[in-house]
Amino acid sequence: MAPGPGPALLGRVAELGRLQAELAGAVEGRAGAVLLAGDAGIGKSRLAGELATAASAAGITVVVGRCLDTGPAPLPYLPFSEVLAGLPVSGRELLTDRPALRGLVPGSGPPPEDVAADRELDRLAVFDGVAGALRAAAAQAPVLVVLEDLHWADRSSRELLSYLLARLGSQRLLVLATYRSDDLHRRHPLRRTLAELVRLPAVRGWSWARSRRPTCWRWSGTTRPRWRVRCPRRPCTGSPIAAAAMRSSPRRWSRPVAPSSPRHSPTSC
Ligand SMILES: Nc1ncnc2c1ncn2[C@@H]1O[C@H](COP(=O)(O)OP(=O)(O)OP(=O)(O)O)[C@@H](O)[C@H]1O
Ligand SMILES: [Mg+2]
Repeated sequence: MAPGPGPALLGRVAELGRLQAELAGAVEGRAGAVLLAGDAGIGKSRLAGELATAASAAGITVVVGRCLDTGPAPLPYLPFSEVLAGLPVSGRELLTDRPALRGLVPGSGPPPEDVAADRELDRLAVFDGVAGALRAAAAQAPVLVVLEDLHWADRSSRELLSYLLARLGSQRLLVLATYRSDDLHRRHPLRRTLAELVRLPAVRGWSWARSRRPTCWRWSGTTRPRWRVRCPRRPCTGSPIAAAAMRSSPRRWSRPVAPSSPRHSPTSC
């Protein structure tokens, strides 16, 4: 997720600005959440990484939790387990006040028997424990939680996310969650969760369509009057991957055409 060494960020100035404004609100004590949707490869993680880098540099605690495609055998609370491990407190400190988190804090063993005996109470204790741990961390320094690939979140993680976002208030906390919109088929279980979440006052749902062709040309450094961009596959005009490839080797991806050429049509790609 972190940007790391790689091609420079193309475009996304407005999007990054909007995220930074949400983060600034959280730093001032208006907790919020952004649910960022977009097709695979459109740049959700890249943008989250850019925000995370800027946030870390500003002294904000950044924790990341990734959902994984574990098939029919889900790993309960997986992204939140990673989030807890990333908080700047030791596992022992976390567990002192919140024994229900024992199964979630990596290396802490199974949950205690008296808590695990009642599954419903167990769930509530886990939800409350995670919310409390984030609240405590946010009291020390503002916190940015990045949750990646919610389309793979299992039921326990979706429910815990709903619990957390319904309790956003004056914590210095921003949750940025990404998911692939092209993975959400009609009966995907995340759809119901999202429909509930976007009704919460502190939650914003942002959906990225692929960028228009002129944006892609601008990103790639290729201009339409001079070049006709040959895209590797459709629909690729808004893909930053394609734009970065064009930028690094424009001769491969584009070729000059005479302005009068019939092939130089605005619809050809
Ligand atoms: N604005 C951008 N400028 C330059 N490169 C970008 C930009 N956006 C994304 N990329 C690059 O494109 C690739 C795919 O981006 P990214 O992993 O962020 O997509 P994604 O939306 O998170 O996809 P997925 O749904 O598969 O997780 C990465 O190599 C990333 O660095
Ligand atoms: Mg991603």
